[in-house]
Amino acid sequence: MFYLKYRPKTVSELDNSEVKEKLKNILSSKDLPHAFLFVGAKGTGKTSTARILAKAVNCLNNKFSQKNDSFEPCNQCQNCLSIDKSSFPDVFEIDAASNRGIEEARNIIYQTNFLPMAGRFRVFIIDEAHMITNEGFNALLKTLEEPPKTAIFILATTNPEKIPQTIASRCFLLNFGKAKVKDIISMLKRITKKENLEFDEEILKLIAKHSDLSFRDAAKLLEEVTRQNLKSKEEIEAFLGVLGRENFLEILEKKDEKLTFSFLEQFAQKGGSFKNLIEELLEKLRLSLLVKKGVSNDLDYQTKLSEKEISLLIKLLLEAYSSLKITPIESLPLEIALAEFYERTKNKNS
Ligand SMILES: Nc1ncnc2c1ncn2[C@@H]1O[C@H](COP(=O)(O)OP(=O)(O)OP(=O)(O)O)[C@@H](O)[C@H]1O
Ligand SMILES: [Mg+2]
Ligand SMILES: [Zn+2]
Repeated sequence: MFYLKYRPKTVSELDNSEVKEKLKNILSSKDLPHAFLFVGAKGTGKTSTARILAKAVNCLNNKFSQKNDSFEPCNQCQNCLSIDKSSFPDVFEIDAASNRGIEEARNIIYQTNFLPMAGRFRVFIIDEAHMITNEGFNALLKTLEEPPKTAIFILATTNPEKIPQTIASRCFLLNFGKAKVKDIISMLKRITKKENLEFDEEILKLIAKHSDLSFRDAAKLLEEVTRQNLKSKEEIEAFLGVLGRENFLEILEKKDEKLTFSFLEQFAQKGGSFKNLIEELLEKLRLSLLVKKGVSNDLDYQTKLSEKEISLLIKLLLEAYSSLKITPIESLPLEIALAEFYERTKNKNS
């Protein structure tokens, strides 16, 4: 799996440029924060960064062990290797969302009473930290108020608003946000180079834009495109569901039923993603609605459809979108939605 194989293992391999800079500064400075709050959307590198940090402070071959000036983990010493294998006795990784979350949180607090066994710091990585119970947060707060010198806490979360302010204010905040398209492209380039794959920048950009701004999703899309041996821009666009989307809205405007259904049939045969197609239509219709409402005057989104028709179409597409999870035939929800759209707008002037 590309996304696991190419998980960044050093600070400089992090493609998230802002996080990289901040982390460099922290690791170069004299005083390390004893608690971090990693905030960011899925697949933006919170877990990867937490592991890099845990390795860096426990590595046997860098500045933390006074071997040289580098703050990077060497990824070769015994400590780095056993952290990678999750078998290092001083690094604790818990998922606060799991059933055992509470129990494990207790264990963590208990473990902070002890000195590191094999490394310099005991690092406690708490994933999905917003799921910690009130009781758990209270216990954690006590520990954060008087932190042991040899402990580092890393709280990672996609929902920062659920972290009590008392906790957050005691942590060094590292904001991962969503991944930037240019950063995703540089990750994709890193992978294609190592895998000896040839893709135009334009195609990598297309993949990045369809990745939900998640490094993980982008790596998965690239792997899927490679696995299916898709080469041309057309094939890849079809796969991502962007094939002729401009034209498709024009077909809808014309209310040409035959053309609509043959487009969808072709789209399905080429293996296009209906999820992406519906997402794109919704995005575009929303912008068209804003134009109709006078909020925007973007010429790209002027349409022959009436305001009512746009609203109806949005509603039907949203229904289709939620049916995607349960339909045995991927094209079906969109086909039904559009059939209904035509049915309900027939004989009415637009
Ligand atoms: N900064 C980055 N640079 C390059 N690749 C990255 C970066 N962040 C994440 N990735 C890729 O995305 C994958 C997932 O990253 P990671 O597990 O660290 O994300 P996460 O933020 O913890 O996500 P989640 O919230 O879903 O747990 C990694 O295995 C790696 O392939
Ligand atoms: Mg994670
Ligand atoms: Zn090392």
